[in-house]
Amino acid sequence: MTKTWWKESVVYQIYPRSFQDSNGDGIGDIPGIISRLDYLQTLGVDVIWLCPVYQSPNDDNGYDISDYQSIMSDFGTISDWEKLLEGLHSRGMKLIMDLVVNHSSDEHAWFVESRKSKDNPYRDYYIWRDGKDGKEPNNWSSFFSGSAWKKDEATGQYFLHLFSSKQPDLNWDNEKVRREVYDMMTWWLDKGVDGFRMDVINLISKVQQLPDAAGEGKYNFGGDYFMNGPRIHEFMQEMNREVLSKYDIMTVGETPGVTPEEAALYVGEDRGELNMVFQFELMDIDSGNGKWDVCPWKLTDFKRIMSKWQTGLAGKGWNSLYLNNHDQPRMVSRFGNDGIYRKESAKMLATLLHTLQGTPYIYQGEELGMTNVKFGSIEEYQDIETHNMYKEFVEAGHPVEQIMNSIYIKGRDNARTPMQWDATANGGFTSGTPWLQVNPNFTVINAEEALNDPDSVFHYYRKLIEFRKRNEIVVYGDFKELLEQDERIYAYTRTLGEQRLLVVLNFFADETVFALPDSVRYGSAERVFGNYELSPGFDLNELKLRPYEAQVFTLV
Ligand code: GLC
Ligand code: CA
Repeated sequence: MTKTWWKESVVYQIYPRSFQDSNGDGIGDIPGIISRLDYLQTLGVDVIWLCPVYQSPNDDNGYDISDYQSIMSDFGTISDWEKLLEGLHSRGMKLIMDLVVNHSSDEHAWFVESRKSKDNPYRDYYIWRDGKDGKEPNNWSSFFSGSAWKKDEATGQYFLHLFSSKQPDLNWDNEKVRREVYDMMTWWLDKGVDGFRMDVINLISKVQQLPDAAGEGKYNFGGDYFMNGPRIHEFMQEMNREVLSKYDIMTVGETPGVTPEEAALYVGEDRGELNMVFQFELMDIDSGNGKWDVCPWKLTDFKRIMSKWQTGLAGKGWNSLYLNNHDQPRMVSRFGNDGIYRKESAKMLATLLHTLQGTPYIYQGEELGMTNVKFGSIEEYQDIETHNMYKEFVEAGHPVEQIMNSIYIKGRDNARTPMQWDATANGGFTSGTPWLQVNPNFTVINAEEALNDPDSVFHYYRKLIEFRKRNEIVVYGDFKELLEQDERIYAYTRTLGEQRLLVVLNFFADETVFALPDSVRYGSAERVFGNYELSPGFDLNELKLRPYEAQVFTLV
């Protein structure tokens, strides 16, 4: 496999609304991010992925864009943004922008025109259809509850919105739309951005007949007709030819519902499409009948999914590695232990993410071991997905207590509570009233405390990033899983030429014993990384693992 800078990089995701407020309005902003660049440099990350900072009415916190070429006034100005880019580049870091082009805001000038009349030149920029028997054109559900269609009074037709009704889907079958998007991307690239994270990019090609989805509900998931749709690879290859291939950049597509086989079509190195995709299989591991139906997860399933992606893309394309982001609960609460073993388990999960093959993505606050939050009532939540679900479930007669419990475990605001910088009011995030309350545990979990504690989760991340940089095998080594059936331990080797690494992770709060399978032959083992001290007399045939212990060895 070819060597590239983005395979060797570690990405840090910033959700600007929640990162750092600089002017006391309670909303994080670009000058706030600039004031924290030294912090990011200390951590040692290479690339910043900035969630949307474009002009937006904020129905979905910036994922509903009304002008792709200007900065949201809450966040600052284009000259603030230019200073941010300069600040990053001068520190040797790169910036990738969020590209949200499956849909725009309904306040985007294109949609304002489009909805005016059936013969408006922008009509075909969006997906309009007549209703059927006084109802929606088909039975598709929106990702944010209810129908995926909304009737517009001006013409009596319906428009498609896979997300909120203020996020109308763009019509990618219209060549003019594609041209506009490519021109806009080129404009940002010419300003110096280093790549894009592409929002739900595998949803842009729809089956033109828009058939009804199978299912018993009033509205049903129509993914068969828009996930990896009929023209998706044609569009991705065209985008690559027209735009991406002209720059030395990195791209990562958000692709719900994609299998490793399908992913290989997006990221295959000979395909001319994307560099990486975000897979969702792991994120669905604790979902029963939909995201809000929370089920326990099993380590053997977790390992099967992770390992399948490791081997499925091996030699073909590159993996992205993440366990949380702005749409997912905090990883230490979900896959680790946010009680007494918070630090140990956060470090163990970090060891996993940084020793698999792929590019690791850190979501802001993950490096502090930030946790989920529990607010007392629905009014304290801000997320549109959470609110729409709450309303639908209350109307359907679900007990409020049960709904709140799902929100505590799965709600997106878990990840969106403000960054916890120090133990002062609002965790040092704002001098005003934060747009979303700070997690009350900021007095204990915060960046200042972590920077001062040599044993903190933060310093562990910093050292892991350094370790990965110093050891090519961590980036490029081949992956092989051991002990697939073990319900407590995730263990694997990485191999590069003559070199070998062994990673052993205890996923639980109980002690357990690891025994290296006989098939792995070695002369001697050296312990090179881990979250607990290990005395030199260790025995790989009988290695006692403490709660959430992670150890990395080189075998010779
Ligand atoms: C992606 C984003 C999410 C957003 C949705 C619609 O899943 O990550 O935050 O709500 O797309 O743009
Ligand atoms: Ca602000």
